[in-house]
Amino acid sequence: MQTCIFKDYQSLSIKVVQEIAQLVITKPDAVICLPSGETPRLTCTLLVEKAHAEKIDFSRVTFFGLDEWIGIPPQNEGSGNYFFYSNVFAPLKIARAKIHLFDGMADDLSNECRKMDLAIAAAGGIDLMLVGIGMNGHIGFNEPGTSPNYYSHVIDLDKITTSVGQKYFKQATVLGKGITIGLKHLLESKRVLVIANGIKKANIIKKMMEEEISEMLPASIVRKHFNAALMIDEEAASLYGKY
Ligand code: F6R
Repeated sequence: MQTCIFKDYQSLSIKVVQEIAQLVITKPDAVICLPSGETPRLTCTLLVEKAHAEKIDFSRVTFFGLDEWIGIPPQNEGSGNYFFYSNVFAPLKIARAKIHLFDGMADDLSNECRKMDLAIAAAGGIDLMLVGIGMNGHIGFNEPGTSPNYYSHVIDLDKITTSVGQKYFKQATVLGKGITIGLKHLLESKRVLVIANGIKKANIIKKMMEEEISEMLPASIVRKHFNAALMIDEEAASLYGKY
């Protein structure tokens, strides 16, 4: 796994944007999976700015949203849907038909998973999957203990995820389950970028890179990928390689 350490969050985000833009320029019908959360926020802002400034055509790109909270409606600011629309799809004017997001309010969640898996297959697989890393080492909502053989699935969220997740909501919110693209999709993606910034991620980055690869630490599974890069800032990298 490639490791790229950047001076700060800004330079890390610029590099991620360059890679996404380059992909779209060389493959205008690229298939891209994006995470929500704090880490990709600047990437999204800079990507929209670059797309506008350089007139990069995103109209043929197919987008997938990595995950969603179950029971949280899309108009809630803490939802993945809200993040994706407000930070990427609305500013880039992406057509609805090119967007695949989980509906966390759906009655039939197994069908949501099936639809997502079929849509990824129909798109020809994911060209670039951008992911953040949770404080417990989760990737998407693939929590510790999740099999790397799963495609999309519904999961009981870890206590760390439900408590850290409060940061996305204006008021205390009951979070219990999530729906997520699986690690099998990640392992089958043509390119994976794991991004992390800030001192609070230093410990989990060290574990991800130095502990034995195990489904108890889902981020470590990314090390098995044939074309993955860890892109982190100096703060997130500050414990990695140090004893
Ligand atoms: C969000 C997601 C999560 C986050 C992770 C880090 O779609 O899949 O796995 O990437 O929890 O979140 P932030 O970036 O807020 O630190």
